[in-house]
Amino acid sequence: MKILVLNGPNLNMLGIREPDIYGASTYDDLILLIEEHCAAKGIEVKCLQSNHEGDLVDYIQQAYFDKFDGIVINPGAYTHTSVALLDALKAVQIPAVEVHISKVNERESFRQISYVSYYCSKTITGKGFDGYIEAIDFLNG
Ligand code: DQA
Repeated sequence: MKILVLNGPNLNMLGIREPDIYGASTYDDLILLIEEHCAAKGIEVKCLQSNHEGDLVDYIQQAYFDKFDGIVINPGAYTHTSVALLDALKAVQIPAVEVHISKVNERESFRQISYVSYYCSKTITGKGFDGYIEAIDFLNG
C-alpha cells in the first residue's frame, strides 16, 4: 500500500495560522504523526505540500505514473474553487479521501462547496490531524 498525502495552500503555516481554528501544532508535527502511523502499519507514504494549484495537479498526475494506491488530500482553499484538482483526480482514478482539519460545514458559506468531494470516496472534517490518520486507515482497508 502506497499512499500520497497532499496538502494545499497555507497548510505549511499550521501552528502559526489561526490557531483557534487549526490548532497549535505545526505542519512538521503533522508529517511526523503521519509517517509514524504509516511506519507502524507498514504503509509506504509520501507527503507533499504546495501553495500552487498547478503543482497540486502535477503531484496528482505523477501519483498515476508512480503507481500510488491512494491519495489523502486537503486542498485548503482550493477545495472551494478548483475544478482542475477534481479533474486531475478523475483523470488518475486513484481512490481518494478528502480531509479538512476544521469543521468546514460550520464555517462561512463560501466554504460549503467542495469540488474534490465529487470524486472522493469519503470526506473527513473537524477531526484535526486525526482526520488524516482516519483517511489513511480507510484507504488501507
Ligand atoms: C481547510 C478548510 C479550508 O476552508 C481552508 O481554506 C483551509 C484549510 C481545513 O483543513 O480545515 O485552508 O481545508
